[in-house]
Amino acid sequence: MSYFLGIDVSTTGAKALIIDEQGDFIASHTTEYPLSTPKPLWSEQNPLDWWNGACASIKAALGKAHLAGDQIAAIGLTGQMHGLVMLDKADHVLRPAILWNDQRTGKQCEEITAKVGGLDRLLALTGNQVLPGFTAPKIVWVRENEPKVYDQTTHILLPKDYVRFCLTGEYATEVSDASGMSLLDVEKRVWSKEMLSALEIPEAWLPVCTESDQVSGRISESAAKATGLKVGTPVVGGGGDQAAQAVGSGIVQAGVISVTSGTSGVVFAHSDHYAAEAQGRLHAFCHAVPGKWHYMGVMLSAGGSFRWLRDAIGDVEKAAAQLMGVDPYELLTQEAATAPVGSEGLLFLPYLTGERTPYPDPQARGAFVGLTLRHGKAHLVRSVLEGVSFGLRDSLELIKGLGVPITQVRASGGGARSAVWRQIQADVFGAELVLVNVTEGAAYGAALLAGVGARAYRSVEEAVAATVKVTDRTAPIAANAQVYEKLYPAYRGLYPALKETFHSL
Ligand code: XUL
Repeated sequence: MSYFLGIDVSTTGAKALIIDEQGDFIASHTTEYPLSTPKPLWSEQNPLDWWNGACASIKAALGKAHLAGDQIAAIGLTGQMHGLVMLDKADHVLRPAILWNDQRTGKQCEEITAKVGGLDRLLALTGNQVLPGFTAPKIVWVRENEPKVYDQTTHILLPKDYVRFCLTGEYATEVSDASGMSLLDVEKRVWSKEMLSALEIPEAWLPVCTESDQVSGRISESAAKATGLKVGTPVVGGGGDQAAQAVGSGIVQAGVISVTSGTSGVVFAHSDHYAAEAQGRLHAFCHAVPGKWHYMGVMLSAGGSFRWLRDAIGDVEKAAAQLMGVDPYELLTQEAATAPVGSEGLLFLPYLTGERTPYPDPQARGAFVGLTLRHGKAHLVRSVLEGVSFGLRDSLELIKGLGVPITQVRASGGGARSAVWRQIQADVFGAELVLVNVTEGAAYGAALLAGVGARAYRSVEEAVAATVKVTDRTAPIAANAQVYEKLYPAYRGLYPALKETFHSL
């Protein structure tokens, strides 16, 4: 029996996860590391923490699984996207990595957009707007603010690819993570020479970019000593955390979409064809499935809105839940179920921490609109669940606008736990909402990609068909869907009507 190892270099920790040839979960271990915010808007980590964390987690996962390193047939990598690691000619890390959630580069984003000739040209070259979280503006920021660091740079890497470098000695990435750098021609799946020359970034700094299931290197002697893995074990490309997570939930064919709602909400669609959204409101990235793409919408406060409501008005439920040994969210969703569909005209706008899709506006705010004396607590809770669902539907509408069908939505994260909220989402989306057996996230997808790289499966699609199964289905209720269909235009009208007010606040 051979086994596959997925390593997820996330923002909170390095996870190592082992599966067998059938895709069954064997063991996992996570080693946490800190994040530092030395100045407002900054978010940094030490790449050596990722490497030490990965080594500790690999050894611990092998121990829990009672496996020797030579029983691992291949390794796949995934991790937080967009982060910038800079190395000098001796391969030393030159400064802390600047992360995906670092917001210091607003000015550089504007400069880059102007330099390449405006948004339309940027979309033609890279398929995406350049956002402060992305990698290219971070490189430009270092050039403008830390010229000594910039001058010593000889290589740049994304977070998971720094761990790949430590494992194999290769400077390599793969197309899904490279898509979030603003340096890849996402349509052609190669580095954009035009972007590099417009930004005066040397191509020699960039890693080799492969498809996600390709072998990009092999475990070196020093890495074998540090991890317990066998020298020569293949390391495949893997994927950015969202693409790898999508592989692990089976989002590898057109029509099957995922909605992951943790604090934020991510809507992810596979596409057989490439197209950039006309205004760049959706991310258009290469998928971890060779030759395919994906679209992605990101809502900043999905589960975060519900948590806010629980903390603001849920003290009674919290106390009762403690006595009953249940989750306060369960009691709140039960209350929501007692309010009518549509919350009798009460709408909630979920922009509690600004928004990314469909309105990239850090100053957007939340709102309850339509309150009357009839509305009580149950209505407030229900309208939050409905408002978040409408916000996620905004991304689904943009995806539909690109000609991608929506036949099934796979839900995961905290927002998928409640049957009441799943029904609301199915009704608001007008599509079947399903749960799948795999709940291990991105590390599982990376392990499956390792299985494909080791030829245990002929393709990513085959790996998914063999391992990811639907376990629960929620069909939309026609009468409810009609109510939401009528309310949705009113919801859509809220942001344009309130934008000026939000900005003045
Ligand atoms: C994707 C994104 C996040 C980060 C951190 O665009 O910003 O998924 O990769 O998880």
